[in-house]
Amino acid sequence: MGDLLVSLYAQEFSSPEPRTEGTDLTIRPVLAPERHVVLAWIERHFSQNWASEVAIAIGRQPSSCLIALSNGELVGFACYDAVARGFFGPTGVAEAHRGQGIGSKLLHQTLLVMKHMGYAYAIIGDPGPAGFYVDVVGAIEIPFPGKGIYTGMLRTSEPAASS
Ligand SMILES: CC(C)(COP(=O)(O)OP(=O)(O)OC[C@H]1O[C@@H](n2cnc3c(N)ncnc32)[C@H](O)[C@@H]1OP(=O)(O)O)[C@@H](O)C(=O)NCCC(=O)NCCS
Repeated sequence: MGDLLVSLYAQEFSSPEPRTEGTDLTIRPVLAPERHVVLAWIERHFSQNWASEVAIAIGRQPSSCLIALSNGELVGFACYDAVARGFFGPTGVAEAHRGQGIGSKLLHQTLLVMKHMGYAYAIIGDPGPAGFYVDVVGAIEIPFPGKGIYTGMLRTSEPAASS
């Protein structure tokens, strides 16, 4: 699947309510002093690569990383302008909290912020769950398969075996 494109002006972005009763769900930008807490959480739940991307987003002013707090506990995040300007992502919800509408809420709120920043479209680079973006915000595939922004990216290599 190639990159996805989402129109920011062809739809209204709402803030759907969480599906779990009694949940106080807050979505807000990461504060600078929370950076280490959020990055450690992302490394624990997702990957070092994502933590590197999120570090860029948190370092922007205003911070371009939103977090979701469920009753005060960090349960998800979503970024924009991390790997490239106009890109949405990475995003993730802790496994135990998936399927409760939190990912959709983060996506809607982040795209709304991008719209207010002046973007007309958002790009989702190398999407994992394309169906999520198609269903929740009507994303369409950019017909340019093959080379994406992550092509040729350096990755952590295994330490060389000592002889
Ligand atoms: C993708 C992700 C953020 C969705 O978060 P979530 O809180 O579970 O999503 P929601 O509960 O808001 O789901 C919204 C809808 O999208 C659908 N959906 C969720 N994850 C999906 C997936 N992986 N593939 C296809 N559809 C998906 C849900 O079924 C739901 O549909 P419904 O409204 O008919 O029930 C979460 O599954 C996740 O963290 N995945 C691992 C990290 C990842 O892949 N991030 C995206 C990188 S591009």
